[in-house]
Amino acid sequence: MKAVVCTRYGPPEVLRLEELATPVPRKNEVRIRILATAVTSSDCYVRGLNLSPAYRMMARLALGWNAPRQPVLGMVLSGVVDSVGPDAKSFEVGDRVFGFNQHRFGTYAQYVCWPEDGLLAARPANLTDDEAAAIPYGGLLALHFLRKAGVRAGRRVLIYGASGAVGTSAVQLARHLGAQVTGVCSTANVDLVASLGAATVIDYTREDFTDQATRYDLILDAVGKRKSAAALRRCRQVLAAGGACVSVDDGTPTLRREDLVLLGELTTKGEIRPVIDRTFALDDIVEAHRYVDNGHKRGNVVVAVT
Ligand SMILES: NC(=O)c1ccc[n+]([C@@H]2O[C@H](COP(=O)([O-])OP(=O)(O)OC[C@H]3O[C@@H](n4cnc5c(N)ncnc54)[C@H](OP(=O)(O)O)[C@@H]3O)[C@@H](O)[C@H]2O)c1
Repeated sequence: MKAVVCTRYGPPEVLRLEELATPVPRKNEVRIRILATAVTSSDCYVRGLNLSPAYRMMARLALGWNAPRQPVLGMVLSGVVDSVGPDAKSFEVGDRVFGFNQHRFGTYAQYVCWPEDGLLAARPANLTDDEAAAIPYGGLLALHFLRKAGVRAGRRVLIYGASGAVGTSAVQLARHLGAQVTGVCSTANVDLVASLGAATVIDYTREDFTDQATRYDLILDAVGKRKSAAALRRCRQVLAAGGACVSVDDGTPTLRREDLVLLGELTTKGEIRPVIDRTFALDDIVEAHRYVDNGHKRGNVVVAVT
């Protein structure tokens, strides 16, 4: 099969297209023929180890010292089950699925084997594979952090970084939960964030939300602490009594299969929709990583696998 291998930690050019043996599913695994994946900001962190020294050390211990032990990166997929292990009962050959696997990687390839009880669910029938690959990463992270912060109907919620993968999902999910949503993004993304259901959009290149009179029950930093730290330093002064400020970098999220199923249902009902910035071919993975490394993608960068 065709797969992209990460030969060492470094810039996008460390990624190389190679021929690898097609994996065979073990007892409780299913093999998926991948039709689309995504280049996420997490993929870029893993490839480049662009982390603080303490986190870099921990990442090397967890992932491999000089290069990832699992050389095929990629956490997201949409595709079709094409083989099942002898004991796997949850899926059948031909099932259309989408999913996310934070720890096993392997989706920058034509095939991957995942445990049947992993974060894998029926792909929403109204989506293409490219669209389905744009749902799990931002959707699962946004759901985790919105829940952690106790978002519910009537809450005034500000999403900082409303145009990224996590941000576009957070805006839509918070609106779905009945919150009154304010999105913060740059000028080029104001219309997009409004179209996702933000009642108010603040362009951070023109206005500072911490200077304004509006108070929020929750501020969700969907950018990440290293980039958002300066902007959020004063956020406590616009929190309502009992309000909270939560960052996507606060702890390791708990991602659940039932939430993937929920995201599929919400997508089918039109409550949330995938946001795709650009789609690349697997052969152009280096270019896709360069693009995501810039840190200003709109929603998701998808990779079509043919
Ligand atoms: N806790 C965990 O385990 C975990 C897991 C995954 C990700 N994360 C965190 O989640 C973050 C977001 O992921 P993502 O995939 O949604 O990222 P993304 O798609 O790259 O989006 C980031 C957004 O942030 C905005 N932005 C970039 N620099 C900014 C700045 N200096 N000030 C204000 N806004 C800025 C950009 O919008 P504009 O173009 O409009 O500026 C961009 O759309 C990651 O960077 C990482 O820190 C944490």
